[in-house]
Amino acid sequence: MTGDLDQLQQQARDHLWMHFTRHSTYDPAQGGAEVPVIVRGEGAYLYDAHGKRYLDGLAGLFVSQLGHGRADLAEAAAKQARQLAFMPLWSYAHPAAIELAARVASYAPGDLNRVFFTSGGGEAVETAWKLAKNFFKLTGKPGKHKVLSRTIAYHGTTQGALSITGLPVMKAPFEPLVPSTFRVPNTNIYRAPIHGDDPEAFGRWAADQIAVAIENEGADTVAAVYLEPVQNSGGCFPPPPGYFQRVREICDEYDVLMVSDEVICAFGRLGHMFGAERYGYQPDIITCAKGLTSGYAPLGAMIATDRLMEPFLEGDTTFLHGYTFGGHPVSTAVALANLDAFENEKVNEHVRDTEGDFRRTLEKLLDLPIVGDVRGDGFFYGIELVKDKTTKESFDDDECEKLLRGFLSKALYENGLYCRADDRGDPVIQLAPPLICDQQHFDEIEQILRVVLEKAWAQL
Ligand SMILES: Cc1ncc(COP(=O)(O)O)c(C=O)c1O
Repeated sequence: MTGDLDQLQQQARDHLWMHFTRHSTYDPAQGGAEVPVIVRGEGAYLYDAHGKRYLDGLAGLFVSQLGHGRADLAEAAAKQARQLAFMPLWSYAHPAAIELAARVASYAPGDLNRVFFTSGGGEAVETAWKLAKNFFKLTGKPGKHKVLSRTIAYHGTTQGALSITGLPVMKAPFEPLVPSTFRVPNTNIYRAPIHGDDPEAFGRWAADQIAVAIENEGADTVAAVYLEPVQNSGGCFPPPPGYFQRVREICDEYDVLMVSDEVICAFGRLGHMFGAERYGYQPDIITCAKGLTSGYAPLGAMIATDRLMEPFLEGDTTFLHGYTFGGHPVSTAVALANLDAFENEKVNEHVRDTEGDFRRTLEKLLDLPIVGDVRGDGFFYGIELVKDKTTKESFDDDECEKLLRGFLSKALYENGLYCRADDRGDPVIQLAPPLICDQQHFDEIEQILRVVLEKAWAQL
């Protein structure tokens, strides 16, 4: 076994190009550690090649809603692969895609009835932008093409989705990107530039900045605004009260499409099928992926209103867009089985029933000097780390480097918690465990975080 593991390590170092990975950290010549190799999952736990167990505090990557090792989802995949392994949705259809489209439409709010499948989240984000541009060209407003999105928000890595992303550091190596995207403020009330003590006034202000940006660019040039129900990057920014309602008014006033990017927030992460439902707003488009299959197969979707598909239902008009693997038979069959399990096991109800316990358990960490803020909703939380709680002073670049990359990520993992320490905005620990977790798992997360954060503070 050790021989096999050594070979696997060597092959990983020689051949596997990992995503968003600083490869020197795995190079023995540069003092690197071994590549963490996960071989198995069961429920809320992952197991590495040495047999060590980790609590999956991030549901893989906001994906594994139902947890790991489920035979029903694996069998749904096998059954579909035996029956029809592949057929594209290019002018043809197959039953799993048809049934899933109807099912997803039945969950989506209002008349979000048209489902365009993709292979993942970034492709859904791209698809929504292309639809917005094409729709306005077909409906007499051809100048509308620009996109607004929020600072620090992540919307994917393809060139269009990356252009919409609000993280300059992630974009710099690939500039020039697709032009015509612009930033508006996010809803980080912990660091609000104005109205920090009045969530409603802050929400109104943040939403109104979208109107300001539309006015600045010219309403006849702006096609869409992309917003996550709870923004992940930066460490979980839930919407202040009234925020999305005001955004809806602004979008209606200027005829700008409201895109709810729910790649993370849909399918139970916030205790509902869609985040828009939780916060009571009606988007024109929802983009989703990840939890749609709980990760048992890759799949994404763009869900659009009837109005947006209308021009494509006439004469020779075609939406000239598609992906070979978008709506793959195996993935759509798995998604149907996943949604069956959501219903049968009352997964959303479980999240709503226990989210208060999760919050209370994480909030215990506020007694630590390094924990500045605990924020989120549902099973989706960010813990912001600070140098000084009173002044909210954050860490500088060197300290972030030492704290997050040098110590925290590794120490959390060594202590049995797989999650993410992130400094794309201010330094945060991101938590999004499988939706099957309960108090025992919440306690385990809290206890590991406490031990590791105490050590981190002592090292500073
Ligand atoms: C909000 C949001 N949009 C889009 C994406 C891109 O999804 P994918 O990695 O499946 O392309 C992500 C990925 O995490 C995301 O969080």
